[in-house]
Amino acid sequence: METNNEIIKKVSQVLAAADYAIALTGAGLSTESGIRDFRGPKGIWKTDPEAEKKAYQSFDKFKRNPKKHWIERLTTPDLLGDLSEYEPNRGHKALAELESLGIVRTVITQNIDNLHYKAGSKNVIEYHGNYSKLRCLNCASQYEESRFNLNEMLKEDLLPPICPKCGQALKQDIVFFNEPIPNAVITKSMSEAGKCDVMLICGTSATVYPFADLPFYAKQQGGAVIIEINAEPTPLTRMGLSDYFIQGSAGESLTKIVQEIKSTMI
Ligand code: APR
Repeated sequence: METNNEIIKKVSQVLAAADYAIALTGAGLSTESGIRDFRGPKGIWKTDPEAEKKAYQSFDKFKRNPKKHWIERLTTPDLLGDLSEYEPNRGHKALAELESLGIVRTVITQNIDNLHYKAGSKNVIEYHGNYSKLRCLNCASQYEESRFNLNEMLKEDLLPPICPKCGQALKQDIVFFNEPIPNAVITKSMSEAGKCDVMLICGTSATVYPFADLPFYAKQQGGAVIIEINAEPTPLTRMGLSDYFIQGSAGESLTKIVQEIKSTMI
């Protein structure tokens, strides 16, 4: 059985030689920043199944009564806490460095915490959106949440925020369960997955679709080499889709990969 360090040496060579490597990330990459994941041993859904059931109702609630949805959203604590208070960890920073070294071209993240951008990554596709933005379901326009004084609107009974472009009610730019992923995000993600020759997957249970389709698409389209880093095996590991599996901390392994690649660079 190879040790993680032996695998790290190998995957570092694979990444350094890649023509077009991309990274896919999930909540497991942000746990070292203090943000809980969903399905890990202490995950939010794992420890509070009621919260998950409630989350599945959000999209219908918004469509039925946007004003009521917004009042509830602004008067109940957020499951993930105040995301503006968290900082990127060594895993985010390692991926940003792999981008600046020209190795990772794009990060496709399921995380809404904005930490890849905060760490310095430039090419980021936020597959499930971004907590700091609002989005219009009608015309797909996106706005910084700070543009709307939501708490003021709550006090003045002026909710929901209205799209300045088309007049429809705005929702948070986070994709709710059963809400379609915006077309532009799907198109861009499939294009990246289809053209990559190496896909680095970090900190995801790989159980939520359509995001979890991307590794299969990369393998089928371009025969991509799949490198998986996760605290526990996932369906990708068990189905043998991952060519390499490093079981452990994404932050630690990504940092070692950057060190290994830089040590071989002249
Ligand atoms: N290093 C590596 N792996 C980790 C770490 C870590 N430091 N911490 C946790 N993990 C692993 C967990 O063991 C788990 O397998 O990361 C994985 C996180 O899986 P999930 O909690 O399911 O998160 P994710 O895959 O991103 O969920 C996808 O589900 O609820 C929706 O919209 C939400 O975007 C989220 C989506």
